[in-house]
Amino acid sequence: MVAQNDVLDYELVAGAATAPLLGYDGPASNLWLYGGSSPGPVIRARQGELVQVRLRNNLPEPTSTHWHGIRIANAMDGVPGLTQEVVPPGGSFDYSFVAPDAGTYWYHSHNKSWEQMARGLYGPLIIEERDPLPADREMLLVIDDWRLGEDGQVHAESFGSLRDWSHGGRLGNWLTINGASAPQLEVKRGERLRLRLINCANARIVTLKLDQLAPLVIALDGQPLPEVREIGFSGRLTLAPAQRADLLLDVFLEPGDRAQIMEVTGQEGVEIGSFLCNGVAADGMAGREMPRLPTNNLPRPDLSDPLKLDLVMEGGAMGAMRSAVFDGRELSIRELVAEGQVWALNGVAGMTDVPLARIQRGRSVVLEFDNQTAWPHAMHIHGHHFRVMARNGQPVDNGAWRDTELVAANEKVTVAFVADNPGKWLIHCHMLEHQAAGMKTWFQVTGQAG
Ligand code: C2O
Ligand code: CU
Repeated sequence: MVAQNDVLDYELVAGAATAPLLGYDGPASNLWLYGGSSPGPVIRARQGELVQVRLRNNLPEPTSTHWHGIRIANAMDGVPGLTQEVVPPGGSFDYSFVAPDAGTYWYHSHNKSWEQMARGLYGPLIIEERDPLPADREMLLVIDDWRLGEDGQVHAESFGSLRDWSHGGRLGNWLTINGASAPQLEVKRGERLRLRLINCANARIVTLKLDQLAPLVIALDGQPLPEVREIGFSGRLTLAPAQRADLLLDVFLEPGDRAQIMEVTGQEGVEIGSFLCNGVAADGMAGREMPRLPTNNLPRPDLSDPLKLDLVMEGGAMGAMRSAVFDGRELSIRELVAEGQVWALNGVAGMTDVPLARIQRGRSVVLEFDNQTAWPHAMHIHGHHFRVMARNGQPVDNGAWRDTELVAANEKVTVAFVADNPGKWLIHCHMLEHQAAGMKTWFQVTGQAG
């Protein structure tokens, strides 16, 4: 990294590399990684700074990099076919953008992401506040769900499995935190930690139970909450694929104590890591007054006369979809299955030539995700953050800004945002197999960048 007049330079090489996902005693896993590590290198900048990253592609296939959650200039959004050409093997692409909002973000491949991300192509992108939050330390918890064989290798035979694509996506069998299996994260009594959690899984909705710790949620999807939220001593925190949470954790464990990080499904839980208290922090900040994260300057939607958009989500196993348009032709469900396209938005599987909507820059939008499928979906909007206004018609706005929101089976979720970022933006399910199998569309914001 070269720092020069507030200009940061990173080189991000995407290529084959190994990582000890099974632990140092097990066989190393052959992965595709950024910078040779899992997760990829932390890219860090200060709010408002120009971030410059050269992506170099040493993979055997084309790629691109997307900066998830950043309200970025459209040409830097990293979506092949929409905002840039793919970067061929041996090629490179220079990304440069100003990150307007502080918070916890991440970057990942956006070409064949269902395979490239399952092989490890992602990393954290941290935008620091101009005045950093007072805490003794910061800790990243990058969570992933891998599907590995006993030899520790990524299960490649099941890439493209129609069963995964039409059900809950590619669920793995091996959860890691920061590329490690059940790591013990060392903490000291009296420390105040800022934890940054990122769910990088292809499809797993991760529910964490942080034993004995009672952290506070201070931000979601990078954006500070107007009111911090308690999750309690045995409380749970759910992160859908691509979602992030920032937590503030005052450590009151005794030296020698170990607090488990559990991943829970229903009543069952597995330990995926733990905090090990190995001493006392001299003059730690735990127990002091709670600091407040300054909010980012996001435009509030004007709900008096918004543009209303509906997005009917259909398809998948146990769904009622009988046909949909794919590549401009109406196909029966059998023909769609043959094409690997089993999900649709407003009756269309996959991308269209014409956007879902052309929206005049600055217009407020109220969008309803109408999930008529038997599956939850993590719906992501590029280039914008939105407020969740209602679930099944009941008002729920709690002031949180999201870029990815979980929409339960048969649920309707209404979101609102100001379409203030000119360009072509994707909306898709972040369960990457659903995205690949049709659950994606795009909208265009017209007008000049200001
Ligand atoms: Cu994090 Cu279009 O994705
Ligand atoms: Cu989905």
